[in-house]
Amino acid sequence: MALTIGVPKETAAGERRVAIVPEVVRKLVTQGFEVVVEAGAGEAAYFTDDAFREAGARIGTCSEALGADIVLKATPPLKPEIGKMKPGSLFLGLLDPLGMPALCLELANRSVTALSMELAPRISRAQKMDALSAMSSVAGYEAVLQAAAALPRFFPLLTTAAGTLKPANVLVLGAGVAGLQAIATARRLGARVSAYDIRDAAQEEVRSLGAKFVELVFETQQDADTGGYATALTAEKAAQQTALLVPHIAAADVVISTALVPGRPAPILVTDEALQAMKPGSVVIDLAAPGGGNCTATKPGKTVTSHDVRIFGPLDLPSKAPVDASAMYARTLFAVLTEFSDGEAFRPNFEDEIFKGMCVTHEGQVVHERIRTLLDT
Ligand code: NAI
Repeated sequence: MALTIGVPKETAAGERRVAIVPEVVRKLVTQGFEVVVEAGAGEAAYFTDDAFREAGARIGTCSEALGADIVLKATPPLKPEIGKMKPGSLFLGLLDPLGMPALCLELANRSVTALSMELAPRISRAQKMDALSAMSSVAGYEAVLQAAAALPRFFPLLTTAAGTLKPANVLVLGAGVAGLQAIATARRLGARVSAYDIRDAAQEEVRSLGAKFVELVFETQQDADTGGYATALTAEKAAQQTALLVPHIAAADVVISTALVPGRPAPILVTDEALQAMKPGSVVIDLAAPGGGNCTATKPGKTVTSHDVRIFGPLDLPSKAPVDASAMYARTLFAVLTEFSDGEAFRPNFEDEIFKGMCVTHEGQVVHERIRTLLDT
């Protein structure tokens, strides 16, 4: 019997993505899966029920989608949604297991095998499954557009009959996936861009995009980085860092902050002192808002003004480009699905580092060590 894949409509406030798009439905149907999409699930991303039907999906109810053998979602499932999932089924999606470990326990109690897209290891073989990076690219791009719209001046150098206007200075803090996309986007809009990251490896990437790398001279040694992610700084070094960044932040019209160390609160890089040193009308877009923010003034999900600087703490940037964000996300899910299942059967494989890394619950247990530790503490 063919495995069914169910895709419910996202219910989180402001969420416009859908976990599947017609292009991916077509590929799954070719592989022998049956796909049930909840009526209207793609509406906010402009994928109509008819487009899903034409691609080979069946349009069904929310309960039908949640009752499938495999459930795909963009945001973590709610308790009532878990209650509608079949014991023995597979859940695949962004689960926020480090932020919401109790939810994993709910899934385990329901005997749902859950794979968390956030936990895909950053290795070459898993690149096509890297949903976080895909979403961070969208966020980096959208953050720059938000900044350009909010800044009371132009981004590019303009030579006009009314005189020459200087380009805006954009400083990107954290040059990971979102940061690099922000650099590229700000450059495309003509801004003068500089960027800073604690990882040495980021320097070359920043420069290759045509931005200036901000080098800070610390009294203490650089910390090593691991697995493509940064490690947290010591308190002493973090304090040095915020102080050394102040003049660079003061020179920027726009700061886009993206610094993240997975599983830790966002590091503070923009202090009140730095905000005070910025020009009135400057803008901070704090992408790290979901983790508390890189700026002391950030209020996640809100815009605040401090010392005449506007600080944005957006939480839903991928939803600002729901068409491409849904397509990119759905492709990463497809890559995971086809790695561990075909239309006939799902094959858990704990020998595989990707599967082992992503699997949070299996056969009624929370099997991921890090999540288990979080639940025990
Ligand atoms: P990433 O891990 O690729 O990049 C983070 C970068 O921050 C790394 O290069 C790391 O070295 C750097 N970093 C860590 N500590 C630092 C410090 N003290 N100083 C300078 N750099 C430091 O992460 P990615 O995928 O680029 O995500 C960045 C942020 O964007 C995350 O906080 C994520 O939650 C957020 N995000 C926000 C969205 C929104 O709607 N607000 C949507 C998607 C992502």
